Amino acid sequence: MRVGILGSGLMGGKLGTIFARAGHEVVFSYARREQKLEKLARDAKGKAGSGTPRDAVQEADAVLLAVHWARIDDVLNQTGDLSGKAIVTCYLPMNDDNTELVVAHTSSGAEELAKMIPKARAVSAFNTVASEVLFGVFEARRRATRPSLVYCGDDSGSKGIAAELIREVGFEPVDAGPLRIARYTEPFALLVGQLAYEGKGGPELAYRFEWFGK
Ligand SMILES: NC(=O)c1ccc[n+]([C@@H]2O[C@H](COP(=O)([O-])OP(=O)(O)OC[C@H]3O[C@@H](n4cnc5c(N)ncnc54)[C@H](OP(=O)(O)O)[C@@H]3O)[C@@H](O)[C@H]2O)c1
Repeated sequence: MRVGILGSGLMGGKLGTIFARAGHEVVFSYARREQKLEKLARDAKGKAGSGTPRDAVQEADAVLLAVHWARIDDVLNQTGDLSGKAIVTCYLPMNDDNTELVVAHTSSGAEELAKMIPKARAVSAFNTVASEVLFGVFEARRRATRPSLVYCGDDSGSKGIAAELIREVGFEPVDAGPLRIARYTEPFALLVGQLAYEGKGGPELAYRFEWFGK
């Protein structure tokens, strides 16, 4: 696939690198310095390049949106029309100092995005892990037992694309249902963050769901 990365920081930089190493064509975009995007593309050692947000989304099969909530309008102004695109959003709608969700309970960051770009096919994924686990999960991807990763969305095609990307990283995708379920997965991400950054285990934390009772 061709994957456009919008926001090449902790999440976008790492996920884009992994997608390139897994054989996808990746375009890194949206950082404060162009040299950073060029370095990411060089270091990814796969089919990776860098460009503007508009370059990143052009002919992309999937777009990863990995910017702070406060930057969404700015980045979307630079991409041009995203109608019909499969957009995997990993952002959380956090306030400026990242202490609270600014959208919750009756909506979610993912649903707000879907309202901003009604014809895009949004999937919420990757926001329930700390970026620090991503390379470790990728390196361990051939192990029999994989950590879980929840995702949700309303469009089956874009959910299929997201599930493939989730598997490429080394997670087992767990379909949590329609996009409105992001109301529950986004606050869950804060629990993961609490355990990862303030719990005993440190940020190298992933999770696994198991089914009991049957
Ligand atoms: N980090 C995590 O573990 C984690 C986990 C779950 C969800 N999330 C969510 O994922 C999203 C991205 O988080 P992140 O940790 O990857 O953030 P980040 O490291 O700050 O990355 C954000 C990207 O946006 C770019 N950017 C910021 N301001 C810009 C500007 N004015 N012009 C151009 N580019 C600009 C940054 O550029 P520079 O590269 O130059 O700084 C960076 O590439 C957030 O919504 C966060 O809530 C993060």
